[in-house]
Amino acid sequence: MSETLENLSSETRQFPPPEALAAAANVKAEAYEEAKADRLAFWAEQADRLTWAKKWDQVLDWSNPPFAKWFIGGELNIAYNCVDRHVEAGRGDKVAIHWEGEPGDTRTITYAELLKQVSQAANTLTDLGITAGDRVAIYMPMIPEAAVAMLACARVGATHSVVFGGFSVDALSTRIADAEAKLVITADGGYRRGKPSALKPTVDEAVAKSPSIENVLVVRRTGQDVAWTDKDKWWHETVEQASPEHEAQAFDAEHPLFILYTSGTTGKPKGILHTTGGYLTQVSYTHNAVFDLKPETDVYWCTADIGWVTGHSYIVYGPLSNGATQVMYEGTPDTPGRDRFWQIVDKYKVSILYTAPTLIRTMMKWGDDIPAGYDLSSLRVLGSVGEPINPEAWMWYRENIGRNRTPIVDTWWQTETGGVMISPLPGVTATKPGSAMTPLPGITADVVDDQAQSVPNGGGGFLVLRDPWPSMLRTIWGDDKRFLDTYWSRFGAGADSSSSDEWIYFAGDGAKKDEDGALWLLGRVDDVMLVSGHNISTTEVESALVSHPSVAESAVVGATDPTTGQAIVAFVIPRGNVDTEGDAGEQLNVDLRNHVAKTLGPIAKPRQIMLVPELPKTRSGKIMRRLLKDVAENRSLGDVTTLQDSAVMDLISKGMNTGKSED
Ligand code: WT7
Repeated sequence: MSETLENLSSETRQFPPPEALAAAANVKAEAYEEAKADRLAFWAEQADRLTWAKKWDQVLDWSNPPFAKWFIGGELNIAYNCVDRHVEAGRGDKVAIHWEGEPGDTRTITYAELLKQVSQAANTLTDLGITAGDRVAIYMPMIPEAAVAMLACARVGATHSVVFGGFSVDALSTRIADAEAKLVITADGGYRRGKPSALKPTVDEAVAKSPSIENVLVVRRTGQDVAWTDKDKWWHETVEQASPEHEAQAFDAEHPLFILYTSGTTGKPKGILHTTGGYLTQVSYTHNAVFDLKPETDVYWCTADIGWVTGHSYIVYGPLSNGATQVMYEGTPDTPGRDRFWQIVDKYKVSILYTAPTLIRTMMKWGDDIPAGYDLSSLRVLGSVGEPINPEAWMWYRENIGRNRTPIVDTWWQTETGGVMISPLPGVTATKPGSAMTPLPGITADVVDDQAQSVPNGGGGFLVLRDPWPSMLRTIWGDDKRFLDTYWSRFGAGADSSSSDEWIYFAGDGAKKDEDGALWLLGRVDDVMLVSGHNISTTEVESALVSHPSVAESAVVGATDPTTGQAIVAFVIPRGNVDTEGDAGEQLNVDLRNHVAKTLGPIAKPRQIMLVPELPKTRSGKIMRRLLKDVAENRSLGDVTTLQDSAVMDLISKGMNTGKSED
């Protein structure tokens, strides 16, 4: 992307917060003023929401950028903040986790019970020789022991590295090796799509290649047969037999809390390092502010997997530090039926739901009648994260799930940012469908051109963060240089030819500011298409397609083109009731291309539209445009190992209607 990004779409709908919610909101408009007047005092006030064993002497040390230190001199224990202090305050009987297994088995875990389990697990870690600073890999299904394992590590000062339970032997063993983990915590398996899905064989293979691993702690979840070595210990024979007494010791605010690997678009996964005091301050504050959490009455449910940062920050550390009651679900949204989510919402009277655009679009595709069969009146705040949410999907979420009553918070952040950065506040912001709106209080985000100049309202460019924030990544594990190169060398003081002394974080996303200055995220800059000299975001063309009544989901790529440099090729999943055979398919193709031209202008008209039954996605639900580009440019497929479902690319090549109309 050489210049700024085109701003093609416009949106006029706007939804003010419900009056009652606004009146009782945890965070009101003054927070923006307060943070603006004194950003560090604002974050110090948020840090005071936590219980510190020793108060900090200084809020921020930014004397050695881009290596930040927050709450210098402060000491705290994360597990104490997430568990013990609620029990000490007399809330031991409050439910922390309503766990719902995929087969329908359930567990109810109170804060007192959670304290017992975390303490027992902490004692077991100590027995297994784990001490502060050691790394522990966690490879688990979505069962309560996953959260217990993370909290137990935090309690003894061990740094956890959670590896998503769907990843391969290779992915697991390279992550173990990079962090030199001493212990793996896993399970025999978990339930997925109605049957047990094994985890232990993957761990066995990975451990065989991992000399650093001394022990493997195994939870029995499915009861399936497992191979056993002398490194293996059953959770129920160790943790569940251990003493429930454990005194949490305080750690320095900058003590490493976890490493989480993110693959980005290419190359070796980056071990994103987060530390203790600043991280917990921001995730705890944002969970309270963005979801307006009322711990006494709300039932919160985040549908993410614990293997992603969303699970770390908004299943484990944010909600538990705030004493929330939450739902945790083991399985897939269509097991046993496509109404499983709405059944869970009604069963537990979920009031705050946090999910991803990919799921919302899937639900749209499945049809309005499925949620329509459920009451859903307990819901009061809806959240979205992970990708840009198309205005059409946003409206569908609002109407069919929120029943036109509940605010939607579209939260932009990254593994690297640790916590939410850009989002509406549900009691303050008048939201626009598809926009993450404005940076939260205490956060400085901007959209700049390639000279790092702020673009005016109505302009597009690169999303950057201008000031350090408490839950920022501290480095890439073992690779400070890559940390500098990836995030800090594009703009500002870290760039080669720069005369600036301001350090500017490059997020890797395209964005635009609308006429009111609200922010619209436009996808990764690597995905931006250059068509006849115009930088066009895939997100805007995808949203235009999804706004057509025949389209459920779409993915757009720029394919090499002899005339225009790149040309827009769109992959479209039609809605269930749409006829795509023969002439009808041809006609739809023409209609869709014209629809985009009419919505965004002729420059954005796709050269070609392919009707497909599915789209290739990563395991966290992001569309893998790289693979679609291979198809669009008639190349053999590149690396497909991170595909969620490897059959999808076959389906796409077979079922493709390549109707290519030229004009
Ligand atoms: C990338 C970060 C944040 C936790 C889950 C993903 C995209 C995330 C939004 C949003 C538009 C979004 C960005 C970002 N993204 N949230 N609300 N609107 N895009 O974490 O795997 O580190 O991915 O996800 O491209 O850079 P991640």
